[in-house]
Amino acid sequence: MKPEIIVALDFDNLDSAKNIVEKADDAISWYKVGLELFVADGQRVIEYLKSKDKKIFLDLKFHDIPNTVTNAVFASLKYETDMVNMHTQGGPEMMSGIVGQIDEYCDKHSVSRPLLIGVTLLTSLDENYLNLMKLGFESSREYVLHLAEIAKKSGLNGVVSSAQETPFIKKAIGNDFITVTPGIRPAAASVDDQKRVVTPKDAKDMGTDFIVIGRPVTKADDPKKAAMEIREEMC
Ligand code: C5P
Repeated sequence: MKPEIIVALDFDNLDSAKNIVEKADDAISWYKVGLELFVADGQRVIEYLKSKDKKIFLDLKFHDIPNTVTNAVFASLKYETDMVNMHTQGGPEMMSGIVGQIDEYCDKHSVSRPLLIGVTLLTSLDENYLNLMKLGFESSREYVLHLAEIAKKSGLNGVVSSAQETPFIKKAIGNDFITVTPGIRPAAASVDDQKRVVTPKDAKDMGTDFIVIGRPVTKADDPKKAAMEIREEMC
């Protein structure tokens, strides 16, 4: 059912990640492995998630020269993850270079190809950043849309953005261009340090494809119940 829930495993060790995956059981099939957990124990975490038949979003936000990022995405293929991301601010040459080479390689070697997703403007940044960097955009939304359009032209499958930007992205680029949206908080949950939060139901109504949710599930007394309530909230 759309949107799919991706639980962010924001931990520094395998055991904590295992604890959540075991408790959430069959209520969650997608997990996000980010920088902290990957640096701490990436290989074992991924092997564990694969052994549990879970889908993996490898959230390493690659951003470097085209050759380096292409090689990093190639290196990630051995993990057989389902989604990998990179910064759209790395530019069209970086993104299209990866897409072309990965498509060719995966076709030729019958390797399953991860969804390639671009990070737009981090939600920790806002108009002040655009002004400081003299980027010449009036609003974050305008800049996110611009980055999403470049990502689409470069052949990426979608972008990470705020759910509030999803309707604009879908309208301008098309419904099949995926949006992956963090900053989700169930109606009754604590906002934590997120600023522009959206409820699961609103994210669904805005047409997003994947919601990324961390603490409301990972800090819950009963992660399975929390995940099921989020799903119910979206019905
Ligand atoms: O615990 P919480 O639901 O806030 O976790 C959200 C996850 O999404 C974290 O892993 C965070 O790093 C990530 N994220 C985010 N905002 C972005 C990009 C990623 O919150 N713009």
